[in-house]
Amino acid sequence: MAGQPEHKTPGGSESPEIPGDAINVGLLGLGVVGGGVAATLLEQRDAIAARVGRPVNLKKALVRDAARARDAAIPTDLITTNPEEILADGDIRLVVEVIGGVSPATQYLKDALAGGKHVVTANKEVMAKHGPELLSLARQNRVNLLFEASVGGGIPIVGCLMKELQANQFRSIRSIINGTTNYILTRMANDHTDFHQALAEAQEQGYAEADPANDIEGIDAVYKLSILAGLAFHHRVAPEDIYRQGIAHLQPQDFRYASELGYAIKSLAIATLENEDIQARVYPALIPLGDMLAKVDGVYNAVEVEGGLCGRVLFHGRGAGRGPTTSAVVGDLLEIAAKLDSEPAPAPSAAPGAASPPERPWRIKSIDDLECKYFLRLNIADRPGVLAQIARILGEQNISIASVLQKDTNPAAQTAEIVITTHPARESSVQKSLELVANLEVVQEISSLLRIEE
Ligand SMILES: NC(=O)c1ccc[n+]([C@@H]2O[C@H](COP(=O)([O-])OP(=O)(O)OC[C@H]3O[C@@H](n4cnc5c(N)ncnc54)[C@H](OP(=O)(O)O)[C@@H]3O)[C@@H](O)[C@H]2O)c1
Repeated sequence: MAGQPEHKTPGGSESPEIPGDAINVGLLGLGVVGGGVAATLLEQRDAIAARVGRPVNLKKALVRDAARARDAAIPTDLITTNPEEILADGDIRLVVEVIGGVSPATQYLKDALAGGKHVVTANKEVMAKHGPELLSLARQNRVNLLFEASVGGGIPIVGCLMKELQANQFRSIRSIINGTTNYILTRMANDHTDFHQALAEAQEQGYAEADPANDIEGIDAVYKLSILAGLAFHHRVAPEDIYRQGIAHLQPQDFRYASELGYAIKSLAIATLENEDIQARVYPALIPLGDMLAKVDGVYNAVEVEGGLCGRVLFHGRGAGRGPTTSAVVGDLLEIAAKLDSEPAPAPSAAPGAASPPERPWRIKSIDDLECKYFLRLNIADRPGVLAQIARILGEQNISIASVLQKDTNPAAQTAEIVITTHPARESSVQKSLELVANLEVVQEISSLLRIEE
């Protein structure tokens, strides 16, 4: 294969019944996912060799701290803290990157690809920020770069967009792609738990990191949506092109009012293509209780894509965790291994938003141009005429009210909480009117502004 280091040694196969040279694999990272990949390669060695037609041999695993206790099944002589033992080893043809973060992972990925090694990564941040550049490097070196595990854990959405569903012109992606936020929102909806309590529980259960910012602020979902939108629309949708709002401001009463109105609240990652405009956003939104996504609970993920030929297709499953992520990483690894020396050389991977097929002329639309229904929760002075003042401001911005709920009043403070839902309106008009509403002397607080996605 062009640009490929010559494969010189059998690579340590211990399976005499499987003919052929072993395919040597280097593993960058031996944590939650890396540990699962290593265990699968070691424990299922014979089954994998039978499937691929030759042994797949885990040759080295890179860690940061060699002294750390590891799974006893992993031989200590496999472990190294020197990346060059993998990146500069000509006998290693396949590298799996499960370190995470941008640095040093990006440089390791570049070195592996430039050295003619095939690569599998689970790294959403790197693929969202540097995917096109890395995929172009992979094409130049005629090697594969696969990244199924970067979105949706065990849900095979990346491969489906690149292969099985590639005949489609996609119109939309609607997804729940962060299990931590979905767990928190499910607890808040079902058990009236407040946000901080639900987050603490998610941390106790191991569903949220000690520093949960990436999840609860929507950053993780932005990376994943950037990858999915690039694959679906053949246009780069950079993380900074995606509007983002986290979930920390939500309060139990938002869920109560939403449910009374017939909606669930979910943190959605949505990208749409309409009239040559792409719009992408991650935010908590109301969705009708009958919508399939409203029924996705706990740490589960779901991705719904709408294609011109296939119509709506929904993927549902575990979006993270050792097992599902290992499933995706090892699946990619076996796909590459099975065709490693086939002629012609393995087909270059399709790039998220890069040059294969050619990038389309779509524009990225600002959130200001979004048009949808809105849910507003406000604390106001409990006296006559207040609603009329608010309605006048909304009316002047062409926003028409669909419903008003007034439930909680505080006689001592003479305040009331109201919830207004609107007919479809423009985001820029809603934001402008809220500035004006907030300045009314009778308005104590604008507690929530949520979009309604129908
Ligand atoms: N965990 C999941 O459920 C999940 C799901 C989907 C995708 N992913 C992605 O998979 C990747 C790995 O996640 P993870 O949960 O397995 O992470 P993790 O448990 O923190 O493991 C990271 C591994 O990389 C090693 N490492 C970190 N920095 C290093 C450095 N500078 N040099 C050498 N080794 C280094 C660590 O070494 P030590 O062991 O010595 O600390 C550890 O073995 C991330 O990109 C993540 O986004 C994870």
